[in-house]
Amino acid sequence: METLVHPGETIPEKNLPALGTMKALVFHGPGKKSFEDKPIPTIKAPTDAIVKILKTTICGTDLHIMKGDVPTVTDGRIIGHEGVGIIDQVGSGVTNFKNGDHVIISCITSCGKCEYCKRGMYSHCTDGGWILGNTIDGTQAEYVRIPHADNSLYPIPAGADEEALVMLSDILPTGYECGVLNGQVKPGDVVAIVGAGPVGLAALLTAQFYSPAEIIMIDQDDNRLEVAKKFGATKTVNSATVNGVETVMVLTDGKGVDVAIEAVGIPATFDMCQSIIAPGGHIANIGVHGKSVTLHLETLWSQNVTITTRLVDTVTTPLLLKTVQSKKIEPNNLITHHFRLDQVMEAYETFGNAAKERALKVIMTA
Ligand SMILES: NC(=O)c1ccc[n+]([C@@H]2O[C@H](COP(=O)([O-])OP(=O)(O)OC[C@H]3O[C@@H](n4cnc5c(N)ncnc54)[C@H](O)[C@@H]3O)[C@@H](O)[C@H]2O)c1
Ligand SMILES: [Zn+2]
Ligand SMILES: [Zn+2]
Repeated sequence: METLVHPGETIPEKNLPALGTMKALVFHGPGKKSFEDKPIPTIKAPTDAIVKILKTTICGTDLHIMKGDVPTVTDGRIIGHEGVGIIDQVGSGVTNFKNGDHVIISCITSCGKCEYCKRGMYSHCTDGGWILGNTIDGTQAEYVRIPHADNSLYPIPAGADEEALVMLSDILPTGYECGVLNGQVKPGDVVAIVGAGPVGLAALLTAQFYSPAEIIMIDQDDNRLEVAKKFGATKTVNSATVNGVETVMVLTDGKGVDVAIEAVGIPATFDMCQSIIAPGGHIANIGVHGKSVTLHLETLWSQNVTITTRLVDTVTTPLLLKTVQSKKIEPNNLITHHFRLDQVMEAYETFGNAAKERALKVIMTA
């Protein structure tokens, strides 16, 4: 059923008849979630689209939400900010998409018109940013409402591996933009990536666009370090069994690394980046930090070092899509488990015990 809206007109949700119910994963406060019936979302603004979810996944950030680390997520919220689907309805102001189109859902919602969007900083869109599965209902459901659909969805080319493209919603642009681009990885560089989770591995895959001489991967999970080797890491360090900083210094003949990418989000791993960075190097932070970190300016002030932070903008999604299409990178290798959406509780168990389950990305089919 098509909902009629006129340009410039916003119809409050309560005035529209619900089109029925759907199943969704709902957050009910720290440690509490349930898979329950919710109304199918309806168009609220002319620029909205309703997307029927085909495939979705769970992010490390969703685990943070479940722990209560993200206070903007409130009781009753459907979570999830990654996925691919089919356009089910569009508002009258949507011009790039029509019913039946297959799309990638970006984790970042952006109007494309505000000051920040014009600067390519979609993460700070004044009417968007990271809102999906945060301050508005997300993708771990049968349907999702996507505001500013024209700028927040990307068309899927015919014949593409849609499961692999779920990795374009968040982790690939995050590893690439926050890690590789901000770190300014160059040919011949020695790069260290601290954290071999899906985001660190995405940085590993996309760093290789620039032919660094070495990529040293550091984690505490041997399985993930094994995967990193297969993905192109030249050296791996298990910092639970050896001193991570000393080992990296030995591996680099005492020089340290040109680029240190932080992909964990705790003080210990940011500290490690400060200890292994070579003069003139770049420390690119990706991790979401909940605790303050000591900045060692007493040693870094003279080292010509650059430290960057970033919330993923997803401006590189079209570029990354081309690299997946041409098989320059094969993100489907990050997928370790498959579930149906109605097995979402089991999927969380698996992803939440990643080391034991040898899990990276879990795909749920709606
Ligand atoms: N900046 C952004 O826009 C953005 C976007 C998405 C995710 N993130 C953040 O990126 C980070 C990584 O995400 P992910 O999904 O890969 O998370 P993840 O939890 O799956 O991976 C983190 C990895 O760090 C390893 N680790 C933990 N403690 C360690 C230590 N002391 N030393 C070395 N390794 C250690 C773990 O074994 C794990 O493999 C998270 O903090 C996430 O919230 C940031
Ligand atoms: Zn995420
Ligand atoms: Zn904007």
